Amino acid sequence: MALPPSQWIIKLAACLFFTGVGCNSVEKKIYVHLNYTFPCVRLLNATHQIGCQSSLSGNVGVLHELESEENLDWVLTSGPNPPYMVILESRLFTRSIMMKLKEGSGRVAGVVVVAPNTNPPEGFSPHTACPNDNSGVYTENYDPTLAHCNATVWNPLGNGLAYEEFDFPIFSVKDDNDTRVIRQCYQDHNRRVNGSNPQFPLCAMQLRSSMSAVTNTATCKRRNDINFSLTPDRVCDELGDFNIWASSRPMNTTTKGHKEFESVVIAAARMDSRSFFFDIAPGAESTASGIVTLLAAAHALRRATQEAPPNRTILYTFFQGETFDYIGSSRMVYDMENNQFPLDLDNIHSVLEVSQVGLHSDSKLWLHSDPVSRKNSSVKEEVEKLVNGLKSASAGLNVSVDEPDVSQPLPPSSFQRFLLARPIPGVVIGNYRSSFTNRYYESMYDNAEYLNVSYPENMTSEEQLEHFPETVKTLTEVATLVARALYVQAGGNETQLANITADPQIVNQMLYSFLVRANNSWLQQLVPTDFTNHLADRPTNFYVGVIQYFSEPTTLVQYMLANMTGSVVNVTQEDCQKQREDKDDDQSKHLYTYMWVQGAAPPNSTEREGFCVRSTVHRSIAVSPAFELHEYTTSNYSTWTESVWKPITGRIFLVASHDLEMLTLGVGITVLLTSLVLTYVISSKADILFSSGREPTSATY
Ligand SMILES: *[C@@H]1O[C@H](CO)[C@@H](O)[C@H](O)[C@H]1NC(C)=O
Ligand SMILES: *[C@@H]1O[C@H](CO)[C@@H](O)[C@H](O)[C@H]1NC(C)=O
Ligand SMILES: *[C@@H]1O[C@H](CO)[C@@H](O)[C@H](O)[C@H]1NC(C)=O
Ligand SMILES: *[C@@H]1O[C@H](CO)[C@@H](O)[C@H](O)[C@H]1NC(C)=O
Ligand SMILES: *[C@@H]1O[C@H](CO)[C@@H](O)[C@H](O)[C@H]1NC(C)=O
Ligand SMILES: *[C@@H]1O[C@H](CO)[C@@H](O)[C@H](O)[C@H]1NC(C)=O
Ligand SMILES: *[C@@H]1O[C@H](CO)[C@@H](O)[C@H](O)[C@H]1NC(C)=O
Ligand SMILES: *[C@@H]1O[C@H](CO)[C@@H](O)[C@H](O)[C@H]1NC(C)=O
Ligand SMILES: *[C@@H]1O[C@H](CO)[C@@H](O)[C@H](O)[C@H]1NC(C)=O
Ligand SMILES: *[C@@H]1O[C@H](CO)[C@@H](O)[C@H](O)[C@H]1NC(C)=O
Ligand SMILES: *[C@@H]1O[C@H](CO)[C@@H](O)[C@H](O)[C@H]1NC(C)=O
Ligand SMILES: *[C@@H]1O[C@H](CO)[C@@H](O)[C@H](O)[C@H]1NC(C)=O
Repeated sequence: MALPPSQWIIKLAACLFFTGVGCNSVEKKIYVHLNYTFPCVRLLNATHQIGCQSSLSGNVGVLHELESEENLDWVLTSGPNPPYMVILESRLFTRSIMMKLKEGSGRVAGVVVVAPNTNPPEGFSPHTACPNDNSGVYTENYDPTLAHCNATVWNPLGNGLAYEEFDFPIFSVKDDNDTRVIRQCYQDHNRRVNGSNPQFPLCAMQLRSSMSAVTNTATCKRRNDINFSLTPDRVCDELGDFNIWASSRPMNTTTKGHKEFESVVIAAARMDSRSFFFDIAPGAESTASGIVTLLAAAHALRRATQEAPPNRTILYTFFQGETFDYIGSSRMVYDMENNQFPLDLDNIHSVLEVSQVGLHSDSKLWLHSDPVSRKNSSVKEEVEKLVNGLKSASAGLNVSVDEPDVSQPLPPSSFQRFLLARPIPGVVIGNYRSSFTNRYYESMYDNAEYLNVSYPENMTSEEQLEHFPETVKTLTEVATLVARALYVQAGGNETQLANITADPQIVNQMLYSFLVRANNSWLQQLVPTDFTNHLADRPTNFYVGVIQYFSEPTTLVQYMLANMTGSVVNVTQEDCQKQREDKDDDQSKHLYTYMWVQGAAPPNSTEREGFCVRSTVHRSIAVSPAFELHEYTTSNYSTWTESVWKPITGRIFLVASHDLEMLTLGVGITVLLTSLVLTYVISSKADILFSSGREPTSATY
C-alpha cells in the first residue's frame, strides 16, 4: 500500500529548516533522554517552602556552560537567547552564584550541576551553619547566651543552600556519558566562536520536576483535604519513618507508660542525613559512623549483658528524621510523655549519644554536655560519672577523649529533645570540639571516599568483605570505648570490661553495607526473603522521605540490630512468624520480637537455611507530633512535608529560533492541509488511479 504522504512531507519540511545539519543527525539529537539525573525537590514547613520546581510541562532553556562567576553576565544580561539552562561544574555551585541565578530567574530556566568524581578539597556543606536552630533546647527561654549558635557555630562551612527556595529546577548529573552528550551538544551548537553569537539551531534542555505543593505545610494539608473529597490525590506528605530500638533486657512492651523498677541508659544515634539533591544522601560521617559504632557496641555487649547483666537496662535507640527538626526523638519523647511507649521519662537514668565519630588525623573524641542542666547538682554528678566512665574506658585503647570548655552548649543532637522535656544527665560523643571537623556535613560528598573506606577494585564483593580499611580499626576502638562506658554506666561489674571488645569483622561488614553496597552475602543472611530484592548495589541513601515500611536505612538497622543483640532460637518458621516459641506460648510476644531470616546456604547446597532470631528489637513511629495534633503551624515540633511530584525527567534537543519555529509550524499546517486535500482527492479517485495494481477482493476466474 502507498505510504500516507503527510508524514514524510512534514519530515522533509522539518529537515529543510535545520539548515546545515543532516537529517539523520537531527533525528538522533532531538530528544536525548538523560538517565542518571538527581533533582532537588520541594519541601515545606510551618512558614516556608524550600527546594526547587519546574513548570508543569518542564522548563526549557538554551544550554549555557558557565566557566566562571564573571561569565554569569551572559546568562543574566547579555546573552541574546534567554532563558538559559546553566551547566555548572560543582566548584561553581556556590551560594554566591546560586543566589545571583535565583535573582535573575526570569532569564534562568534551570541549573545542571555536574558532580565530580572526587570530593572538592575545599569542603562543601549545603546545610545551615547552625543546624536545627529553633528546634533544639537552646532557645531564649533556656539560655539567651547560648541560643542561635551564639557560643559556637557548629557547621562553619554551611552555606544554607539546601534551605533556599528556587523557582526553577536544579538537577545533578554524574560526570559520565550523559554529561558527555550534554557538553558535546553545547560545544557543537551553542559556543561563541570568535566573539560572534551562536547561530540557530541551538542546543536546549528540558528539565521537568513539577511539584504540587505550595507555600507551606498548613496550605498543602488543607489542599490535601479538599482534594481528598474529589480525588484521592494528595499534594504533600509529612516526612517520617520509624525509630528502631532494643533493650539489653526484655521488658513487657505491651504495657505502656511507667515501669516500676526499670531504669534505663539510652544509647542513641541518628539514622538519617540529607544533601541538596534528592536520593543522594550518603551520610558517611554524619550518620553511618554513629550507627556502625553503636551497633558494634551493642554486639560487643551482648554476652556481658546476658551473662553478667548490669543493674540498669541499656536501651539502644536509632532516631529517624533528625535532620528535619528532630522528628524521631521529638516523637519518642512525646510518646513517653503520653504513655504511648513501654517506658516513660522517669525511667530514663541517663543518655549517651554517639554523634559523628569518623576519626581522621588526630584520634581524639570530645565529650559534650549541657552547661545549663549541669547547674543541678545531681545532674552534674551523673554527667561527671559518665565522663569519667568514658575517660577510664579509653585507657588502653588507641583513642583519647577530652571535654570541651565547660560553658559550651551541646552540638545538634537528639539528646536536646530529652533536655527540652526535663534535665536528664547525658553526654554526646563526637570527633569535634567546637565546630564539626566534617567538611561535607549533609552533602553528597560525605561518602565512603571521605571516610577513607575503599577497597581494591580488582576484588570481588566477597573479598572486599574480608579486607579491612584503616577506618575499620579506629571505629572498632570507638565502639569498644562506647560499649565499656555503657556497661559501667548501667552499673555493670568492672571485672567484665576486658571481655567487652568490638569485632572489626562486624564493623567492616556494616561499613561496607552502608557505604558501598547493601546487597552483599553477609547482609543477605540477616534479612527475610521478601526484603532481599530491596538490598541495593549502591551506597545507602539516608534521606528520610515519606513513611514506608521497607525504607532503606531503617530496615537495615533493624535487622542488623536483631543480629547484634538477639539470639538464634530453635523454633519452626510458622511459630516464628506467629511471634511465639511454641504452640502453647502466649507470653513471649510481650517480651520478644521473632524474625525469620533467610540465612546462608551450606557449602554443598544452593538452598538457604533460614532461622529464627529472637530479639528485643522494635520499631516505633517517627512522625512528628505536629501531625498527630493537627498543629501545622506549631514551632514546638517539626512540620516538614514533602511535595508530591510528577515524573521527573531531563532531555536535550535542538531548537530553531522562535521565528523559525513559527514558520515551521505554519509550513507544517499548510502541508497538513494540502495533504489532507490530496489524500481526499486521491482516495476518492482511487478507482481510477490504482485500478491496475489492485487485487480484486472476490474475483473468481
Ligand atoms: C552572645 O553571648 C555573649 C556572651 O557569651 C553575650 O554577651 C551576648 O549577649 C550574646 N548574644 C545574644 C544575642 O544573646
Ligand atoms: C522553616 O524553614 C525556613 C527555612 O529553613 C526557616 O527559615 C524557618 O524558620 C522555618 N520555620 C519554622 C517554623 O521552623
Ligand atoms: C559510556 O559510553 C561508552 C562508549 O560510548 C560505553 O562503552 C559505556 O558502556 C557507556 N557507559 C555507560 C554507563 O552507559
Ligand atoms: C539512556 O538510556 C537509554 C536506554 O537505556 C539509551 O538508549 C540512551 O542512550 C541513554 N542515554 C544516554 C545519554 O546515555
Ligand atoms: C505483659 O503485659 C500484658 C498486658 O498488660 C499482660 O497480659 C501479659 O501477661 C504481660 N506479660 C508478661 C510476660 O509480663
Ligand atoms: C542496683 O543494685 C543495687 C544493689 O546491688 C540496688 O541497691 C539498687 O537498687 C539497684 N538499682 C536498680 C536501679 O535496680
Ligand atoms: C589486585 O591488584 C593488586 C595490584 O594491583 C595485586 O597485588 C593483587 O594481588 C590483586 N588482587 C586480586 C585478588 O587479584
Ligand atoms: C564483680 O565480679 C567479681 C568476680 O566475678 C566478684 O567477685 C565481685 O563481687 C563483683 N563485684 C560486684 C560489685 O558485683
Ligand atoms: C571472659 O569470658 C569468658 C567466657 O565467658 C570467661 O571465661 C572469662 O572469665 C571472662 N573474663 C573476664 C575477665 O571476666
Ligand atoms: C548473625 O548473622 C550471622 C551471619 O553472619 C549468623 O551466623 C548468626 O547466627 C546471626 N546471629 C543472630 C543472633 O541472628
Ligand atoms: C530443634 O528442635 C527440634 C524439635 O523440637 C529438634 O528435633 C532438633 O534437634 C532441635 N535442633 C537443635 C539444633 O537443637
Ligand atoms: C551437606 O553437608 C552436611 C555436612 O557436611 C550434611 O550433614 C548434609 O546432609 C549435606 N546436605 C546435603 C543436601 O547433601
